[in-house]
Amino acid sequence: PKVVVLMGGPSAEREVSLSTGRECATALRDANCEVIEVDAGPDLAARLLEIKPDAVFNALHGRWGEDGAVQGLLEWLRIPYTHSGILASALSLDKQRTKDVYRKAGLPVVESILADVDDVRRAHVLPPPYVVKPYNEGSSVGIYIVDEAANGPPQLADDMPSTVMVETYAPGRELTTTVLGDRPLTVTDIITDGWYDYHAKYAEGGSRHVLPADIPTEIFDACMDYALRAHQVLGCRSLSRTDFRWDESRGLDGLILLETNTQPGMTPTSLTPEQAAHVGISFPELCRTLVEDASC
Ligand code: DAL
Ligand code: MG
Repeated sequence: PKVVVLMGGPSAEREVSLSTGRECATALRDANCEVIEVDAGPDLAARLLEIKPDAVFNALHGRWGEDGAVQGLLEWLRIPYTHSGILASALSLDKQRTKDVYRKAGLPVVESILADVDDVRRAHVLPPPYVVKPYNEGSSVGIYIVDEAANGPPQLADDMPSTVMVETYAPGRELTTTVLGDRPLTVTDIITDGWYDYHAKYAEGGSRHVLPADIPTEIFDACMDYALRAHQVLGCRSLSRTDFRWDESRGLDGLILLETNTQPGMTPTSLTPEQAAHVGISFPELCRTLVEDASC
């Protein structure tokens, strides 16, 4: 098939997406696809009409690429595309609404509120420790941790959105599970020196991934179960990766869901390709499967 790999775009995760896109393009060539790489710009619709691909492989991350916007364009153009559709994408990229869906399904989360960014700059809107983040970005872009010892409210950058999410800080280990089709793959324990931030995510050696995670069976099984239920209740298609925090001092009660990513990273340091490889699915096979699942 002729496949357009859609990458880049204008989001804060542009560089991550270019890396994901390059990796996926190479893998799809290895899987016998004719691949055309497209950096998503304002002329996207015209370019797709000209190329007439059999499918679009969506390698975009963040706003416009992971939030239902580009999915809407592809539906409009009647071009089959990989990963989730409009609604699941829009829901999953909105971290606050994702939690409403999780809660309804009985999946555990920590409290968070949406707040006006100026109120967050003026005073503590939750008792510290808490985290401030854009409610609709990935890769830890624009995240502030306000610890217990903080005297005043956080000094947020000028380019923070006007509404931000403020979330009670959940301590503990960082765990993650990819779901492919209806199958949770495994659990990875992400070990970092400090916070699993942008650098730890994408710099070589920025974090160490232990898979399968060396954690009690009860926690491992709960991650597998919660990730599958999250995938289903959000209505995701083909692939998702759900991120957890686990406070081991509290056993199963210490396990919470942070978010579900409908366009998990596929960079050289990313978690999903590793998890697939662990269960015997090569990267070209993974990408090819997504193309075969593409629809509009
Ligand atoms: N938002 C990044 C790409 C991830 O979740 O992997
Ligand atoms: Mg994310």
